[in-house]
Amino acid sequence: GAPVDADVSKLELGAIVKVNWRGQAIYIVRRTPEMLATLTTPAVLDVLRDPDSKESEQPEYAKNATRALKDEYLVLVGVCTHLGCAPLDRFQPQDAQLGATWPGGFYCPCHGSKFDLAGRVFKDVPAPTNLRIPPYRFVNEGVIQIG
Ligand code: FES
Repeated sequence: GAPVDADVSKLELGAIVKVNWRGQAIYIVRRTPEMLATLTTPAVLDVLRDPDSKESEQPEYAKNATRALKDEYLVLVGVCTHLGCAPLDRFQPQDAQLGATWPGGFYCPCHGSKFDLAGRVFKDVPAPTNLRIPPYRFVNEGVIQIG
């Protein structure tokens, strides 16, 4: 499949945009400083199965604390690593449904897998690995090319 360009020039802080690449949904989130701060919070790292993304699939340049080329932009394959459902964005911390310790992230409605704001999987959920990160690059400040 051909690469796909995503226009992020109008994406607001804290917002998500979805684009289609090779028949898969790609989620792009522009993370706020508050969202980024959760990624290194010990209480969050404690609940993650693979905080260093050792088992998960991502380009080498996204194998870091924010799982990103540029910290602000999270680029994920929006396909649950359990059985392929589409995880929902649940960015509000302390979500009434997900509990007082929920840091914000993604929730898979099919069997309850939870992922943080870098797509890292929680312990004790069915999904075995972090959400995948596709190959991507910045064409310029406002355009991300997937693929
Ligand atoms: Fe997401 Fe099963 S497909 S938890």
